[in-house]
Amino acid sequence: METTLLDVGTVAEVTKKRKFVVEHEGTAVLVFAHEGAVYAFANMCIHRDRELLKGTVFNGKLVCPGHQWAFDLDSGHEAVKDEWQPTFPVTITDDRVLVDVTNPKPPCRP
Ligand code: FES
Repeated sequence: METTLLDVGTVAEVTKKRKFVVEHEGTAVLVFAHEGAVYAFANMCIHRDRELLKGTVFNGKLVCPGHQWAFDLDSGHEAVKDEWQPTFPVTITDDRVLVDVTNPKPPCRP
């Protein structure tokens, strides 16, 4: 499969915006900076499709505003429910933040 790296801005731009959503082929991807790292998650919660853009980061987890499922920042794992929110690999090259939108783990629901 071909890889698509989406350039979402410089590290400084992403850090300043804090949280934002980019669209790629029908998938909304939430990008956010937290404590010096950048993360990318599928924006629509796997539970009941609430927007994680409106969630908060707490104790190393992204907490959904819907019913407070808490997804690990690195893996997307929800420990209580043992479910995974899709996350996308993020790399930083020459100060640009690149999101591999072709390769969510686990794959997004159709
Ligand atoms: S919609 Fe996210 S926890 Fe229910």
